Amino acid sequence: MPNVTYIQPDGSRATLEVRSGQSVMDAALQAGVPGIVAECGGSCSCATCHVHVDEEWFVRLEPPTAIEVELLEFAADARPTSRLGCQIILAPELDGLTVHTPAAGNGR
Ligand code: FES
Repeated sequence: MPNVTYIQPDGSRATLEVRSGQSVMDAALQAGVPGIVAECGGSCSCATCHVHVDEEWFVRLEPPTAIEVELLEFAADARPTSRLGCQIILAPELDGLTVHTPAAGNGR
């Protein structure tokens, strides 16, 4: 199973083994990782699962859909490496993926 590391704004981190096919958001919710709210439950309509992806990993992800790009415009502290955690689906080649939860938070 691929490992995903979640880094908090204070530098604390959690590394989870995530089943392939599961999203970065789902795994974070199941493990109680702070900073991932996921109000819409993964239907790509809230942006409260916003993460900053490490640059080295960002380029390896499938490109975002137009809807994801549009939603990210409303995410606090959006950056060029921003993605929605519910839209990043784990696969073996993503073993080692590292994401950061935004300092601005994902609450509404
Ligand atoms: S959980 Fe709502 S957009 Fe990702």
